[in-house]
Amino acid sequence: MSDKAKTAKLIYDGKEYELPVVEGSENELGIDISNLRAESGLITLDPGFKNTGSTTSSITFLDGEEGILRYRGYPIEQLAEQASFLEVSYLLIYGELPDKATLEKFENDITRHTMLHEDMRKIFDGFPATAHPMGVLGSLMAALSTFYPRAWDPDRTDEEVYLTIIRLIAKMPTIAAWSFKNELGHPLNYPDNKLDYCSRFLKMMFSVPAEEYEVDPVLVSALNKLLILHADHEQNCSTSTVRIVGSSLANIYSALASAINALGGPLHGGANQAVIEMLEEIHEKGISMEEFVERVKNKEMRLMGFGHRVYKNHDPRATILRKSCDEVLQKLNRKDPLLDIAKKLEQVALSDEYFIEKKLYPNVDFYSGIIYRALELPTDMFTVMFAMGRLPGWIAQWKEMLEMKQPIGRPRQIYTGETARDYVPFDKR
Ligand code: ACO
Repeated sequence: MSDKAKTAKLIYDGKEYELPVVEGSENELGIDISNLRAESGLITLDPGFKNTGSTTSSITFLDGEEGILRYRGYPIEQLAEQASFLEVSYLLIYGELPDKATLEKFENDITRHTMLHEDMRKIFDGFPATAHPMGVLGSLMAALSTFYPRAWDPDRTDEEVYLTIIRLIAKMPTIAAWSFKNELGHPLNYPDNKLDYCSRFLKMMFSVPAEEYEVDPVLVSALNKLLILHADHEQNCSTSTVRIVGSSLANIYSALASAINALGGPLHGGANQAVIEMLEEIHEKGISMEEFVERVKNKEMRLMGFGHRVYKNHDPRATILRKSCDEVLQKLNRKDPLLDIAKKLEQVALSDEYFIEKKLYPNVDFYSGIIYRALELPTDMFTVMFAMGRLPGWIAQWKEMLEMKQPIGRPRQIYTGETARDYVPFDKR
């Protein structure tokens, strides 16, 4: 933060109020209104929080106008290309890249905690085979709190918090893979702790007792990149959910279950599923790109995977993934007609005045589904993959929120209903 005291002035009802301006390390500016109501009686109104910063944070920086995304200062492009998902998880949660010994310990600790309590299997048995895996994931995340009752005590030691973080990162892939197996009606696979994080997950997902399963390094590398790209994205809908639920000092499992449910919505993480469904419809019905874009412009539907609350130039994650789609399909020696449709649709949309004027570009979800398809994941598992990637970001934001002693989240409102009136008993109305 800069030492220069900047202020903004608000004039209301003949009185002048001076409001401090907070400056971030990337020169972002915000008017601090924390004393506004006490001094003036006014609140601010900002539906959808389009202009409202809910916190300061030192985890993730993004500049939507320039298309920049950095975790703890490191560009997403470098991390996606060179780092491992667990290394990035450590970076997000603890603020620095781990040295070799620290990373080894972190990985080993995670590997030791991949199993789920056997009683969790009974909960799985209760879900119908038609259950959406995001519903299963959210429910089981909440259920974990019942297996770790210490999580309910806000006075936890640092060691307990570390162990909880390890458990969460370790068990998330097991839960995710089991929610997939539940859907298939296949037996649940136990984690193979000889494998690394991504390979272990793929084996739990795709191996069946009757057959040998060999983990394909191309898929491992694609998965690693996808998880890194999703790992954090500052104060989005699900992350704000973690911080607001966590601010009541609710246990972390409950805060994360709430975030998972928020992520599932089609305007947020659920968009990756919606994109593939949209591309499939175009493919199956032979709809022309021009006709489809026309429907979008007539507001009959949204172009899923396009537009972002913050990115108004390009989403750097989409740029990385677009390239990655080609690489993965080429390495696997596969073709996907949906990738060609996606590219053509992008071309048509990006040259159309409607999208240019509204600054609508492909977001992370536009291309991620193509890679998930290459990994042979069913569409309803896409958002589960997003949740797995986002987990370290949610944890980092929860931890930061508690460490900075953020007050309980409790927005105000402007009431627009009836003013006070007297009750009349029903026989006199
Ligand atoms: N297709 C067509 N028009 C769109 C789209 C879209 N994908 N996105 C926004 N617009 C239009 C809106 O109709 C609106 O037009 P108007 O001014 O004529 O009313 C204008 O652009 C602004 O849209 P808002 O909804 O106000 O923008 P907001 O910032 O609130 O929404 C959002 C951002 C939710 C991501 C939106 O762009 C959208 O719905 N996109 C499709 C869903 C999607 O891909 N979500 C994933 C986001 S990334 C993530 O969560 C990981």
